[in-house]
Amino acid sequence: MPKLAITGKGGVGKTTLTALLSHVYAGRGQDVIAIDADPAGNLGLAFGLSAELDAELKPIAEMESLIYERTGAQPGTVGGWFKLNPKVDDIPDTFSVRQNGVRLLRLGTVRGGGTGCLCPENALLKALVTHLLLYRNQTLLLDMEAGVEHLGRGTAGAVDAFVIVVEPGLRSLGTAHQIQGLAQEIGVKNIYLVANKTRGPQDEEFIREHGPDLPLLGSLPFTLAAVSADQDGAAVFDQAPELLAAAEEIANRL
Ligand SMILES: Nc1ncnc2c1ncn2[C@@H]1O[C@H](COP(=O)(O)OP(=O)(O)OP(=O)(O)O)[C@@H](O)[C@H]1O
Ligand SMILES: [Mg+2]
Repeated sequence: MPKLAITGKGGVGKTTLTALLSHVYAGRGQDVIAIDADPAGNLGLAFGLSAELDAELKPIAEMESLIYERTGAQPGTVGGWFKLNPKVDDIPDTFSVRQNGVRLLRLGTVRGGGTGCLCPENALLKALVTHLLLYRNQTLLLDMEAGVEHLGRGTAGAVDAFVIVVEPGLRSLGTAHQIQGLAQEIGVKNIYLVANKTRGPQDEEFIREHGPDLPLLGSLPFTLAAVSADQDGAAVFDQAPELLAAAEEIANRL
């Protein structure tokens, strides 16, 4: 069961690729959990989640009573006593939403602390990510922001593939170089690129020339269908068959 982390510069298409690959794996009969680990994330929308279901999908980091119940400390407190190994194994099933055969879970973010913060919110998120990566026999996709947040030396080894989404442009390729460095630092073994919004082979050539020296798994073509899906709040895999076909190939290569 593959465990994939998807990252890249803002707006390159991380959420789009996460939704597409989740749909592909679910279609192949796998038990899939897609995790929104981007603080500003809206993975639910890419799955075409209704406003009601999307509202149900609350970020774990903002569940104050859950954090208190599991860690023994009030969120927002720093430096007090709290459990570093809170119970988390029931959280993925209890607090996720199911859509099109994929379970969606939203992590949220810890305000004003960053992942280094010694606070109960972080203890819970860290334990949850560790549980998801190490102890669940499920296909897992982590939609992350540009970086390696939520992963550390203990969990990086459990990630089968770290996928950096890039556009054919110098800015996202510069970010990809930085992310590659961070990922290698924490011990991620397999790092790949996926191109998005490409207009033809010349764009893939541009990425090979200017991007980090990493295998290119495939490319998602630029398509107005993706733009309309985002405008309509519709699932990208329903609206853009050409992207779904490209994602099938990427999954095969993975
Ligand atoms: N192949 C594509 N063709 C055209 N538009 C696309 C394509 N892929 C993504 N987009 C559009 O680009 C925008 C950003 O995509 P997406 O939300 O997947 O990126 P992201 O990396 O998750 O962004 P963020 O950093 O804000 O989370 C969306 O409006 C999406 O519809
Ligand atoms: Mg996103």
